[in-house]
Amino acid sequence: MRHLISIADLGRDEVEGLLESAARLARTDERLPALRGKLVLSLFFEPSTRTSSSFELAAKRLSADVMSLKASGSSVDKGESLKDTVLTLTQYAPAAIVVRHPHIGAPELVARHSGAAVVNAGDGKRQHPTQALLDLFTIRESLGRLEGLHVAIVGDVLHSRVARSLVQALGLVGARTTLVGPPTLLPRGIEALGCETSTEIGAIADADVVYVLRMQRERMESAFVPSLREYAARWGVTPERLRPGQKVMHPGPINRGVEIDGRVADSPDSLILEQVRAGLAVRMAVLQELLAARPALEVVA
Ligand code: NCD
Repeated sequence: MRHLISIADLGRDEVEGLLESAARLARTDERLPALRGKLVLSLFFEPSTRTSSSFELAAKRLSADVMSLKASGSSVDKGESLKDTVLTLTQYAPAAIVVRHPHIGAPELVARHSGAAVVNAGDGKRQHPTQALLDLFTIRESLGRLEGLHVAIVGDVLHSRVARSLVQALGLVGARTTLVGPPTLLPRGIEALGCETSTEIGAIADADVVYVLRMQRERMESAFVPSLREYAARWGVTPERLRPGQKVMHPGPINRGVEIDGRVADSPDSLILEQVRAGLAVRMAVLQELLAARPALEVVA
């Protein structure tokens, strides 16, 4: 594995291998020497709490040097392009660049202009592969398996890189997915990824896991639902719509009272905070896999 840009870059064996090494890493909170002397650069051109903090901590736990740049407050605010930002920071010879960007394909551009291993931390609505891996990890830790499970993903699928990555990842490990939401938020032809769709919230009834998505208003150019109140009334995940024992997940940030009822988020069947913990172990596993065996990189001019 040279880069991790899309779940499509991975085979089932690689996914299983990453989950195994994440499970080993989750058992210790010691600092490990694996990436000593290597620089991990984190470039976030969109807001982030969980993804950026866990990548940063993951790199530190593996003894890497870490440098984090957020678009706001950097020269990106002065109009510097992604290409020039990457050419500039590449002079410090990073071994890995973790990048989140609103444009689809930004990770490929970073890979073209640096010799580093690139990890996609979310590009537009396309892919967010480490989120999908940490979700698989969380499901397996909680339910003991992945193969044969049924996961219902509910909400704004249209604008969700999380949904696209997760459907592919669940398909790789033999789980079944149903996408549920208003017709305007279910992309046409998405079944080609190997999932079913439904516009009825009742379709979550027989799922082992109900995976809730945020309304991603920052990516909406027009009104896709009449109002958030109406959305909550028809598709919001409430205690009344769940069976006891059904697990609930959400990548965060959650909007209580919109896509998820606060009582659901705080219930014992919610795995939302387990997902955060899994993010650290899985991102350590990914960085280790990409970098541990790599020779030092030459600087790209
Ligand atoms: C997601 C993202 O940024 O794609 N959040 C995350 O990484 N935990 C989902 C979202 O913003 O709704």
